[in-house]
Amino acid sequence: MIALDGPGSSGKSSVGAAVAAALGLRFFDSGLLYRALSWTAIARGVDPADGAALAALAPSVAVEAGVGGRLERVVVEGRDVSAAIRTPEVDRVVSAVARVPQVRAALLVRQRALVGRGGIVVAGRDIGTVVLPDADVKIWLDASTEVRAARRAEERGIDPGSVAGRTILADLLRRDGADGGRAIAPARPADDAVHVRTDGNTLEQTVAAVLAVVMPRLAAAPGGGAG
Ligand code: DC
Repeated sequence: MIALDGPGSSGKSSVGAAVAAALGLRFFDSGLLYRALSWTAIARGVDPADGAALAALAPSVAVEAGVGGRLERVVVEGRDVSAAIRTPEVDRVVSAVARVPQVRAALLVRQRALVGRGGIVVAGRDIGTVVLPDADVKIWLDASTEVRAARRAEERGIDPGSVAGRTILADLLRRDGADGGRAIAPARPADDAVHVRTDGNTLEQTVAAVLAVVMPRLAAAPGGGAG
């Protein structure tokens, strides 16, 4: 089990997917569950502060394996919402939804069920601290806010210097504060996490840096090494 935590747009999904592919492991981005629940709450007009109503939506949300076995297809009651959950509208409410205790409790169970007995890289904010405290390897991936905002803007085909690009930067700063400052399972590195900074790196360089941390630890983990 590899826990890959870090703030928004620190590269967790692309790095995590590449590391998982290199090691023949599954990859799961836990943020998809928080996004899917937020999308469902918006669609149903559920108040993001109503914990009981939000938790009641959790069974409607599923993450399924897409092509190549990567857990990336997000389905809400039969509808594929994989693209719809990556909009500014969802960005705006997801931190509020993610700090609700009943939501975290409901999604904790879902995440552990998806992980099962392991063989997986899991990206998130509290994977090393709360979801998988006994993970074999814990990584905290980070980059400056400007680099992360520019990456998110590029992903969405937006000029980072435009008004929309600056809105992305402001939103990332707000979400960093909300996710890191919440009472339950705040986004933070586990005490035993290895920090990897990605500023100025190509994807390949960051993947190599993460693999350099992971491989010796996996070899030393129970059941590791001999393959
Ligand atoms: O990684 P992301 O931007 O897709 O995550 C969306 C939101 O979900 C983020 O603002 C915080 C929340 N989240 C969380 O609280 N815990 C996780 N393990 C993953 C995501």
